[in-house]
Amino acid sequence: MSSWTAPIVFAACSLVIGLGAVLAESNVRVTGNNLGYEPEQPIHFSHRVHAGELQMDCLSCHYGAEKSRHAGVPPAELCMGCHAHVTSTLDVKLQEKALAEAEGREPKTIVSVELRKLYDALGLDGELKTDPTKERRPIEWVRVHNLPDYVYFDHRVHVARGLACQTCHGPVGSMERIRQESTLAMGWCMDCHRKNAADPTAARATPAGGAIELGDGEHVSIDCARCHY
Ligand code: HEC
Ligand code: HEC
Ligand code: HEC
Ligand code: HEC
Ligand code: HEC
Repeated sequence: MSSWTAPIVFAACSLVIGLGAVLAESNVRVTGNNLGYEPEQPIHFSHRVHAGELQMDCLSCHYGAEKSRHAGVPPAELCMGCHAHVTSTLDVKLQEKALAEAEGREPKTIVSVELRKLYDALGLDGELKTDPTKERRPIEWVRVHNLPDYVYFDHRVHVARGLACQTCHGPVGSMERIRQESTLAMGWCMDCHRKNAADPTAARATPAGGAIELGDGEHVSIDCARCHY
């Protein structure tokens, strides 16, 4: 064994023992069991509408994915770029407009039940003005994807490699409610890493069919310590 591999092998062994102990102690949620998880969210926010029909770029809301470990969920203020004006769906607005015309009055602002929840979170009143008696509180989105704490994953490096979000998250633009589409199991990470590590000089096919360009001598790591501290 050469001198530099010894610490790595040692680290791997102590890791396996350590993890074994952790798993024996607690009831660790195995992420692989979470495939298809599609929890009800506090506001009916539709990716089909926003990312699909309106064709909004994923990064316009999940800007963290390019800059940090976590993609993050956008703050409610970001939604107001549109929802300061869009207070209900277009068909409801048009119905009210037609009704108002027939009754010879000004159309009223109709606030839908779901968007009312957004305005409540921001402490806004019926006119969408700040109501000093209302408390602002963050929307408690239910987290869908969640790796165990002992795994290190970083969006930045994957996104910088040109991997599409859909490679790992599936057809989000057609999801009415967000759903976990990959197992997030170790074997899933490893399959892609192995595929990309096999030939370090060629461009490699990703499951979505895109290519990841790796420079000369660059490897996608399958070292235990890269994903486990
Ligand atoms: C680029 C503009 C834009 C942004 C930003 C945006 N939305 Fe929307 N949203 C729309 C439009 C347009 C519709 C209405 C689609 C329709 O007419 O059916 C809509 C519809 C909705 C609806 C359904 C409304 C109803 O009455 O059923 C909800 C809820 C919603 N958005 C929540 C959000 C949240 C939460 C955010 C921030 C995370 C957000 N939106 C960001 C444009 C936007
Ligand atoms: C208008 C803002 C907006 C856009 C555009 C958007 N998202 Fe989201 N995304 C959200 C919000 C808000 C949530 C949290 C609520 C939910 O789960 O639906 C979320 C949740 C998610 C989650 C689940 C997070 C978790 O808890 O595990 C994933 C994955 C995701 N988005 C991926 C995408 C992808 C991929 C795209 C582009 C195809 C995209 N999003 C476009 C606002 C957006
Ligand atoms: C190589 C696979 C992969 C790619 C590519 C990827 N993700 Fe993720 N994503 C994951 C994994 C794994 C998690 C769970 C991370 C955790 O629990 O720490 C996750 C979690 C998330 C979450 C919720 C937790 C968080 O990190 O804030 C959101 C939102 C999200 N991804 C959006 C996106 C968007 C948007 C893109 C594209 C710009 C993207 N992801 C690209 C694998 C990926
Ligand atoms: C679809 C392919 C794919 C999947 C799935 C994937 N990865 Fe990766 N991963 C890559 C590629 C390509 C790189 C090389 C990026 C680089 O070095 O520029 C990488 C690099 C990494 C790195 C090294 C980052 C650094 O700091 O050098 C870590 C850690 C990592 N991935 C963890 C994970 C984990 C954990 C999972 C599963 C939850 C996962 N990856 C799933 C393709 C993937
Ligand atoms: C590319 C990232 C990646 C690499 C490299 C990696 N793992 Fe993992 N490992 C994970 C993920 C993700 C999980 C959690 C998901 C799961 O339970 O499958 C995990 C879980 C584990 C577990 C918990 C038990 C289990 O299977 O549920 C052990 C033990 C483990 N890894 C050991 C190792 C060892 C030893 C190596 C080196 C030979 C290694 N890992 C390399 C990503 C990785």
